[in-house]
Amino acid sequence: MSNASKKQAHLLGFIQHGVNSHATGMWRNVQDKVNYDFSTPSYWRHMAQTMERGYFDAMFIADELAPYSTYENSSDATVKYAVQCPTHEPSTIATIVTGATEHLGVGVTLSTMFVHPYSMSRLLSSLDHLTEGRVAWNVVSSYSKSEWEAYGHVEMTPRGERYEKMEEYMDVCYQLWDSWEPDAIVADKESGIYADPEKVRIVEHDGKYFKCHGRHFCSPSPQGRPVLWQAGSSDRGRDFAAKHAEAIFAVHPNVERMRQYASDLDERLETKFNRAPGSVKYIYGLQTVVAETRSEAEEKYERIVSCIPLEGALAWISGHFGLDFSTMDLDENIKNIEVPGIQGLFESLIYAKDPEGKIPLTVKEAALIYAQGMGMPRLVGTAKDIADQMEYFMDEGGADGFMLAATYTPGCFEDFANLVTPELQRRGRLRTEYSGKTLRQNLLQG
Ligand SMILES: Cc1cc2nc3c(=O)[nH]c(=O)nc-3n(C[C@H](O)[C@H](O)[C@H](O)COP(=O)(O)O)c2cc1C
Repeated sequence: MSNASKKQAHLLGFIQHGVNSHATGMWRNVQDKVNYDFSTPSYWRHMAQTMERGYFDAMFIADELAPYSTYENSSDATVKYAVQCPTHEPSTIATIVTGATEHLGVGVTLSTMFVHPYSMSRLLSSLDHLTEGRVAWNVVSSYSKSEWEAYGHVEMTPRGERYEKMEEYMDVCYQLWDSWEPDAIVADKESGIYADPEKVRIVEHDGKYFKCHGRHFCSPSPQGRPVLWQAGSSDRGRDFAAKHAEAIFAVHPNVERMRQYASDLDERLETKFNRAPGSVKYIYGLQTVVAETRSEAEEKYERIVSCIPLEGALAWISGHFGLDFSTMDLDENIKNIEVPGIQGLFESLIYAKDPEGKIPLTVKEAALIYAQGMGMPRLVGTAKDIADQMEYFMDEGGADGFMLAATYTPGCFEDFANLVTPELQRRGRLRTEYSGKTLRQNLLQG
């Protein structure tokens, strides 16, 4: 295959605005946050510049709204072991990230559940302006009981209804974002007319879940609306993603599951939503541990694994899947059932040990695999080893790119930019310059 005909990878740095992201216990690692404090702008500026140096499309800031409290019906273990806790609000760092870079985008995870779509669309239009067209929205609907409790709810709305509500939510946002015609602003100082009210539509929405009567308060932003990201993986979630998203995220432990997922999504795009396959990017989770030599990479990997506290791991899987694993024996096998939490990640975990899903996984194994990086494939080795696997996932698994899960930060992204980026570029698998101006242009290219 010539370099010109090869698919190029889109890269996202997957991280949280917190002390610990998706590898539990990483704050203890001697390589973590050396000379940095996660709550300060300099950390985020450095992280952003590192990702841009690595030619990433964007930083992907994951989020949840409150500390997990499913394990033992308490958030004690979450707090005790820094299980994505503390985590600060994600949109607050968006303009720090794009202010420190010229091309890097920023994707913020914002839940639709407790914020009116009028406020959401205003926030995102404002961010699209201030990032100069480099913002994406990862649309979520709060899957965890702690989030609902923190917002004063006793019961969570079931998954099906959450998606129904989200459909209407998106409809209101689209109406607001599309309500200013491109030439609505005339800014004629002589006549004193700033904008033509005929070209700024009043949104009149009376729906099942939301009412909205008014004009969008923001002028048209560089991208018109944020780039839409989604990671629903249940049947209903896949439909939602196929209908709305421009990039879809998934975690699959092996290439067979990636392939099945990509063909399922391709079919939904074409048959249900009349969208061309390829118009949406499939981005898969990966955890990379790279070094100049394999033995050095193995050493780093062992250090990462040694940081995981079992109880913290159990608190995390309990939070993500909505099942209290303290009520199960550590050696009990996990069953492939429908869970109230993140179904797609639960299923990936079931297949983490065996692509056929036939070899059972105990509670303890599941917790430790998940706590290390959500069940993503772990690539440990030299840049060449890692690039080989990434190429394989792109050519055989339908991957358009990867969300690279943070381990020790910012070091893991520095290592990637120093070692893997040049290797991918040499193979024609990664851009050598940014060709677009906005995040949408960069992400949807290639
Ligand atoms: C890779 C991946 C990352 C996700 N990140 C978040 C997140 O940061 N915050 C969140 O609330 N949900 C997150 N989710 C959850 C989903 O977006 C979705 O709301 C959840 O999976 C429930 O839908 P489902 O059952 O259809 O998968 C993530 C899911 C996946 C697969």
